Amino acid sequence: MKTVKISIIGFGAVGQGVARSILSKREYLKKQGIDLRVVGISDSKGSEINTEGIDIENALLRKKQKGSVAVGTRSALDIIADVEHDIVVEATPTNINNGEPGLGNMRLALKSGKHIVTSNKGPLALHFNELKEAAQDNGLFFRYEATVGGAVPIFNLVHEALAGNRVVGIEGILNGTCNYILTRMSEERMPYDLVLKEAQELGIAETDPTYDVEGIDSAIKLVIIANSIFGLDSTYRDVDVTGITKITPEALELANRNNYVVKLVCEAREGKLTVAPRLVLKRHPLAVGGTQNVASILTDLAGRITISGKGAGSIETASSILSDILYIVRNS
Ligand code: HSE
Repeated sequence: MKTVKISIIGFGAVGQGVARSILSKREYLKKQGIDLRVVGISDSKGSEINTEGIDIENALLRKKQKGSVAVGTRSALDIIADVEHDIVVEATPTNINNGEPGLGNMRLALKSGKHIVTSNKGPLALHFNELKEAAQDNGLFFRYEATVGGAVPIFNLVHEALAGNRVVGIEGILNGTCNYILTRMSEERMPYDLVLKEAQELGIAETDPTYDVEGIDSAIKLVIIANSIFGLDSTYRDVDVTGITKITPEALELANRNNYVVKLVCEAREGKLTVAPRLVLKRHPLAVGGTQNVASILTDLAGRITISGKGAGSIETASSILSDILYIVRNS
């Protein structure tokens, strides 16, 4: 049995999803010969540390009842630097102004010899190459499947299953909130403000939903794709972005009458990065509804490969994180 110790830094929807999925997969993991232990959990109020393995059920319950996992005051940085473990799961909220606190957590993890698995988009949209190179220089893994497309395994697909192909371009719908709003406005003729509120109630919108509707969240994800798949060194400021706030019900109705839907499409092609509302034929692979995400990858050998699935959600995002953890365990 291989013992693998991890920390969960950030215990919001994603961090708790990771904890829940580790609990529910414990037997499965044991059958794979993996004893996966969580030795540190932190949230904004404090932390819990147990070098033998935290009682996850208890930690989740405490978070639910008291709003925090904290039983002590040691910080995320203390856990990353001082507690012996293998993988830091960095799941603090995205901050696109300076990437913090995620960026500092990731830099310290790499300095302290720990692999990183993350769902946090901010540090990657600002310092992708720095983090990737620091991981390589230190012989560590830096995995980020959960940053783009929630459960949809875009990076695994391109880097593993499509290895050997040259990726010519990528188109996608990478923001569930915008897709939900456009779908509901178009199919149910619901007013914009009301469906935005619904998206917030579903828990898929960003804390500040202007990140979603102005196309910023889509741009951030497109940058991570471009840097990871095309080897660019871009930041979200390099993306030409138009959001969905100016789309009228009349425009959606007109599109519908002509067999089109309006989608907020992300596109990376020939070094150019664009996020903009586009008319998409109703039978086109990009025409997915509701909160779905989709990525269509154009390659030289395989042609067009399209995958879609849940782009947000606690357990769905945890699926990508668990897969990254298992990748590291199997390859290190
Ligand atoms: N606000 C994001 C979305 C969450 O709507 O897709 C997932 O990154």
